[in-house]
Amino acid sequence: MSETQLGPAYRIETERLVLRCWEPRDAQLLKDAIDLSLEHLREWMPWAEHEPEPLDVKIKRLRQFRAFFDLDKDYIYAIFDRDESLVIGGSGLHTRRGDNAREIGYWIRADHINLGYATEASAALTKVAFEVDGMDRVEIHCSPKNLASSSVPQKLGFVHEATLRRRGPIKDGQPVDSMIWSMHASDYPLQAPARTEVRAYDAFGEVLIDERRAASSPE
Ligand SMILES: CC(C)(COP(=O)(O)OP(=O)(O)OC[C@H]1O[C@@H](n2cnc3c(N)ncnc32)[C@H](O)[C@@H]1OP(=O)(O)O)[C@@H](O)C(=O)NCCC(=O)NCCS
Repeated sequence: MSETQLGPAYRIETERLVLRCWEPRDAQLLKDAIDLSLEHLREWMPWAEHEPEPLDVKIKRLRQFRAFFDLDKDYIYAIFDRDESLVIGGSGLHTRRGDNAREIGYWIRADHINLGYATEASAALTKVAFEVDGMDRVEIHCSPKNLASSSVPQKLGFVHEATLRRRGPIKDGQPVDSMIWSMHASDYPLQAPARTEVRAYDAFGEVLIDERRAASSPE
């Protein structure tokens, strides 16, 4: 594991993906991805009720995401393919679980599900949360009915700590149950995210994590 370094990571590269801070110029690509995914997003993402949004609203929203990122208020990431021509989805290292924790959220465009993208993105963000941001804990919350979502933390070695009754987002006027999956810094070295190959860069483009270089350096 590399030493804890100065974040946040503005850009993260994995085998198939680029995760990076959203920019206002991404608005059309984001709109395209959401508009074709409305049905499956509405089932699980409360914000999708307000979709489709016009482009100017999306631009405003992405300016806000960018501002939150720069101000260390919240870290919302775009998930792109490697040449950044397609929005594969969205994710985040959310700050709402307190100073020493991050919560990962995710959605993947409807025509790219079940290809392992949410798992790949979450593994990379888990690595960044521990190795760059120096967190004690990473959580993933989801409905117990959302089997595709709950399989992501399960595959990555998160522990199912609890299912809170009626304390998740509101659906059909009622709060839904919410599963909490967590990984602690002490669990992390033995779990899959520690072995995932990632390159991460700060706002200046300086390397924060370079697994390929680490892998080729002598023991
Ligand atoms: C949940 C979501 C992000 C998963 O993204 P993804 O890229 O398809 O996830 P992955 O491919 O990494 O893993 C999904 C796993 O769920 C499994 N799965 C999919 N549908 C399933 C179902 N109905 N029952 C059981 N398992 C299911 C897949 O087989 C896959 O497991 P595998 O790799 O062992 O085959 C995506 O479906 C999505 O965007 N859903 C709508 C938004 C959402 O629910 N977000 C999460 C809110 S908590």
